Amino acid sequence: MVNGQRAKTRKKGAAASSGAGASAELWLREARRWGWLDFLGAYDQQLAMLRSTTSQTSALHLAVAGAPTSAFGLYAGDDLITGWPVFHDPIEGYRAKNVGSPNCVSIGDVGFGKSSFSKTWITMRNLTLGRRVVIVDKKMQTAGDTDGEHEGEYAALARGLGVEPIRFTGEAGGLRINPLDPVITGSDRLTASHTDLLKAILEEVIGESLSAEERKALRVARDAAVTRAHEAGRIATIHDVTLYLLQPDEEIVGQQLGHYGVEEYAAWGRRVGFALEECIEGELAGLIDGETSEEIRVNAGLTVFDISALPDSGPAVPVVMAIINTWLRSTLLKQKSAVPTFFVVEEGWHLVEGSFAKVSQQNTKKSRGLALSTVTNYQHLSDVPADSPAIATIKEAGTIALFRQARREDAEACQRLFGLPPSSIDLMMNLEQGCCLMKIGNKPAVLMRASRSSIEARLADTDGSLLSQARVDLQGDEFSAGAHEDPTDLVLAAPGGEEA
Ligand SMILES: Nc1ncnc2c1ncn2[C@@H]1O[C@H](COP(=O)(O)OP(=O)(O)OP(=O)(O)O)[C@@H](O)[C@H]1O
Ligand SMILES: [Mg+2]
Repeated sequence: MVNGQRAKTRKKGAAASSGAGASAELWLREARRWGWLDFLGAYDQQLAMLRSTTSQTSALHLAVAGAPTSAFGLYAGDDLITGWPVFHDPIEGYRAKNVGSPNCVSIGDVGFGKSSFSKTWITMRNLTLGRRVVIVDKKMQTAGDTDGEHEGEYAALARGLGVEPIRFTGEAGGLRINPLDPVITGSDRLTASHTDLLKAILEEVIGESLSAEERKALRVARDAAVTRAHEAGRIATIHDVTLYLLQPDEEIVGQQLGHYGVEEYAAWGRRVGFALEECIEGELAGLIDGETSEEIRVNAGLTVFDISALPDSGPAVPVVMAIINTWLRSTLLKQKSAVPTFFVVEEGWHLVEGSFAKVSQQNTKKSRGLALSTVTNYQHLSDVPADSPAIATIKEAGTIALFRQARREDAEACQRLFGLPPSSIDLMMNLEQGCCLMKIGNKPAVLMRASRSSIEARLADTDGSLLSQARVDLQGDEFSAGAHEDPTDLVLAAPGGEEA
């Protein structure tokens, strides 16, 4: 009805307009009737403009807080105070000069989200940008589909992304990595990394520093091993080094400047030679004593070294870590254009001690040149001795995510080390799972909930073992395998295998 009236008026108006000519007055009347002026805002309330300052007018927008970060970088989570999304990643942050170091550290009590954050924000999201991620996975977790076989906690994530983890077991038939392989050292000629790595391995095996004579015997044995293997058209192995430590090669010894003969070299090399021989027959058996296994392809976007099956004590873990670090450095030095690379070391205590600490510190120092961001996780600062290389890595990290620290002294230690306001102590003590104080460079820390999509949450899940639906009957027989299955999907089998 109303629309019909309007249509009539318009028709009438249009006729009047054509009859009376195009005088401005008539046009204005027409325009009013047609509602054009209204449409153009001519009847809006007109207020005289007032000049003001930015700080005065900001008082009119009390509810609007500034975003904690720029819109550049990867989505990390949500600011719990303002609701703004937090965008940051170590590489972009370094480019924008928000952080002075691309290294990241997460600290927090057991089970509050450190690994989940590394898996989602660091691993999955950086891979989508074509960056490289290398993970050393030490934490054992039972995967539901591996028939009781224990694997590292990144295995499910790696497989979900189509990558098979490189799993070291140290058992016969397990994967081997040859510390003299050019793939590891970056060159088939004699290089400093050969010697550094062998020295690191031997110091780990012997448990103390090598003497000057032992280092010399080692260099000569390495020269002989690499040269003779090259002549034979193969790659030298640790067995060759052991052999030439115990029975120095006369010709190679003769090429060395000095007045020492084969007997002297043999005497210098005896202790390290025997220690190495014993170790590769014992604690390091099957791990470094042969050519590198075919399965080890380490140039992919994602590489997961699963060392969860290696013993916590003894030389195996530090030796493998030293080899991985040497490989990483030579891979990064060789690349034609620098692909930003994230090196995730869960359980950062591996950085604290042993030969790995020295090798990894060299990488951390050169991180900018290598386009390398080292990501480490710790539970408490008190786990890390004040004079260890790890504390230096923590102090100079550009990005710090502080998850819950239930004990006041742990929260206070973080507050002091990272120069946070005193109020952050109580905040840290009461953080929920997945929430952290995110400190980016010198900016004030942001109280953030780390975001996870449903797919990310599924792949990053570490509750598989704890929430497993597997059960045993009174006789101890398992009657339902499976780790973290959806209870609604679960078909419980009765003892004996029949469905309940
Ligand atoms: N952003 C998040 N949102 C919701 N829940 C989360 C989030 N992050 C982690 N969690 C929950 O917390 C559990 C433990 O997380 P995670 O394994 O990452 O802890 P952690 O700090 O690495 O523990 P640990 O010290 O034992 O290695 C996850 O399985 C998940 O259930
Ligand atoms: Mg963890």
